[in-house]
Amino acid sequence: TPHDAFIAGLPKAELHLHIEGSLEPGQMFAFARRNRVDIPFADVEAVRAAYDFSNLQDFLDIYYAGAEVLRTEEDFRDLTTAYFDRAAADNVRHAEIFFDPQTHTDRGIPFGVVVEGLLAGMAEAEARHGVTARLILCFLRHLDEAAAFATLAEAEPWYHRIAAVGLDSSEVGHPPAKFARVFQAASVHGLKRVAHAGEEGPPDYVREALDLLHIDRLDHGNRALEDKTLVTRLARQAMTLTVCPLSNHKLCVVDDLARHPIRAMLDHGLRATINSDDPAYFGGYVNDNFRAVAPLLDRAQLVTLARNSFLGSFLDDAAVTRHL
Ligand code: HPA
Ligand code: ZN
Repeated sequence: TPHDAFIAGLPKAELHLHIEGSLEPGQMFAFARRNRVDIPFADVEAVRAAYDFSNLQDFLDIYYAGAEVLRTEEDFRDLTTAYFDRAAADNVRHAEIFFDPQTHTDRGIPFGVVVEGLLAGMAEAEARHGVTARLILCFLRHLDEAAAFATLAEAEPWYHRIAAVGLDSSEVGHPPAKFARVFQAASVHGLKRVAHAGEEGPPDYVREALDLLHIDRLDHGNRALEDKTLVTRLARQAMTLTVCPLSNHKLCVVDDLARHPIRAMLDHGLRATINSDDPAYFGGYVNDNFRAVAPLLDRAQLVTLARNSFLGSFLDDAAVTRHL
């Protein structure tokens, strides 16, 4: 498309990336082999063929199965450096990456193995590419409040290395209200707060994320567009939305990329950003996601999206200014 070189040249931050969702099929086989773990696929083609989802839960079932090959600190480090190699190639200069500790601790992998591996990968990426990184600890919302509190307690030695807590996994039936007290406790420890809301869940879940979780950033937020009062509120408070076009299409949140609401979001004054969510599962990294919606946008809007990613980041003001 005509915007390809322009998109590639834009410096960007990535604010919605699940590191477990960056596990490419080839890596899945490599980690399975070195850890002697069985996986239910014959080859890379069979894995790719399984990535045909009709909703969020379809995807999550396969995503959690894929994560089983991740066992050692080296796995988490290698996963992270591989993601940052690809992100840097897309001119991503900063990334705030989600991880799902419960997916690993529930399999007996110590919290410290996960987080130390991720931090080692982040340090390596900064040394290689000059890309800065932050960690966001996500609670799995299909699990209960007590499990989230236990995870928050396990993270205590690393609070100074974690930027924020987040909320992901199966949305419908697990409203933000379920985690209001955990998010309150996290904020007392100085952690920022983000949450997936309005991906499949109704506008009321977005309102709960604002009112009960006191979020600093909204992940997805697509269904907020169904509620005019809510849109006005999000625009007025300059809430950053981390939008993920290829994910939206693959999970049938949006039926046709040509009708993706990104243009409407910008026209409503929302601070939208473009992100890859789970790039190994949804068919592309940040530049692919920009390209997926580029036919709907002009160059000034592409610049706005890239600028928004730094404005919506948890970098300090001086660092944001340096990136703009
Ligand atoms: N939504 C909810 N949970 C997730 C996602 C998502 O898009 N990706 C990974 N976990
Ligand atoms: Zn996500």
